[in-house]
Amino acid sequence: MPQNISILGFAGSLRKGSYNKSLLRAALEMVPADAELEIFDIEGIPPFNQDLENQPPEKVKEFKAKIRAADAILIATPEYNYSIPGVLKNAIDNASRPYGDNAFDGKPVAIMGASIGMLGTARSQYHLRQSLVFLNMYPLNQPEVMVPFAQEKIDQNGQVIDQKTREKIRELLEALIIWTRRLKK
Ligand SMILES: Cc1cc2nc3c(=O)[nH]c(=O)nc-3n(C[C@H](O)[C@H](O)[C@H](O)COP(=O)(O)O)c2cc1C
Repeated sequence: MPQNISILGFAGSLRKGSYNKSLLRAALEMVPADAELEIFDIEGIPPFNQDLENQPPEKVKEFKAKIRAADAILIATPEYNYSIPGVLKNAIDNASRPYGDNAFDGKPVAIMGASIGMLGTARSQYHLRQSLVFLNMYPLNQPEVMVPFAQEKIDQNGQVIDQKTREKIRELLEALIIWTRRLKK
């Protein structure tokens, strides 16, 4: 039996009713039997200050340790002004520093995103992919999980009720596990 693949997921939104947190919760409900998914909340990661990068706060230490312990990363990003939210970029910046101590180095990663607009975070996802290059991560190319008009697919309780969206998330998880096993060889 191959070892289970451990995935660490986080969303680029702090709000309680976040559609992107809902995508991650849906992923939790359908994570395949040969994998484990843990969700990390980026709330509390302070604004990055390079003067302090050698004394990171506990929250950043915890985030980096969990990234390092995971075989793969899953990011659910909103789209803010055609890019990723500042809180997500800030979390990534914190975990990538100081130079030479980038917790993301060499990790496979999958991306998904939900927005209330018609492009479903396409633009923010491609911005995020640009940063993944410098982080030396291995992003999964397909499937692309871009959820437009999220308010019609996620109910008041934060449940993803759209079956096609759920199916896409399942496909993404399965593809990420295959990708991660391939890279581990
Ligand atoms: C500052 C800001 C900028 C936004 N810019 C975009 C945008 O460029 N494209 C888009 O589709 N939605 C945009 N939205 C709407 C988001 O899709 C919506 O707020 C969504 O619910 C955010 O994700 P969340 O539910 O996970 O917090 C923006 C929202 C905010 C607050």
